[in-house]
Amino acid sequence: MSDAVVAIDGPAGTGKSTVARGLAEALGSRYLDTGAMYRVVTLAVLRSGVALDDAEAVAAVAQRAEVSLDAQPDGDHAYLGGEDVSREIRGDEVTGAVSAVSAVPAVRTRLVALQQQLAGKGDGGAVVEGRDIGTVVLPDADVKIFLTASAETRARRRNAQNVAAGHSDDFAGVLADVVRRDELDSTRAVSPLRPADDAVIVDTGDMNQAQVINHLKDLVEQHCGAIR
Ligand code: DC
Repeated sequence: MSDAVVAIDGPAGTGKSTVARGLAEALGSRYLDTGAMYRVVTLAVLRSGVALDDAEAVAAVAQRAEVSLDAQPDGDHAYLGGEDVSREIRGDEVTGAVSAVSAVPAVRTRLVALQQQLAGKGDGGAVVEGRDIGTVVLPDADVKIFLTASAETRARRRNAQNVAAGHSDDFAGVLADVVRRDELDSTRAVSPLRPADDAVIVDTGDMNQAQVINHLKDLVEQHCGAIR
């Protein structure tokens, strides 16, 4: 078990979620996927029918949305109200709209407060994954990691996942989407995606996921001592 609070940030397609989940397991820590929270709020916004560019209306929906996460043996579940929306939040509709919703300041204010509360809850350490964890949500995290990989590497991985899931092979389309999302996430006014000054930058391009997890576990041990 480790008591360390670990922040993991980085763009989509770096293998962040799998790596963060694997690290949490290796450390015996809780795992918090903050992107899933933005996705649940985005689903609430889409269902409400308000326009995505109406920041005030989007904020009002976000304010009312009951977002919760639950890590279970069969995987991580996300809920909107009492409804399990784990699958729906991974669909194209939510993926296409989540950057716009997560750029609304009031949405971020509400979710950051919720994330800080969840990260501090309970005993032991936590691995918290997102885009602004080291910079905004947990500026005092014990270890901050920023995962990177080139846009091409990330697009290749995502395209392979899509093909494995039965979708068409479209590297150029996936690459364009990766570049578009990077641009939106790193240029937005509130909490743009960037490494914290004290983050360790890890390029995952030449490593498989098991290697990345081992590397991060070593980093946590270096910063916080051996994990018992
Ligand atoms: O990690 P993900 O792809 O599930 O994240 C979904 C979106 O939410 C992504 O466009 C970036 C945004 N996000 C964010 O702005 N801040 C976070 N802490 C986590 C995710």
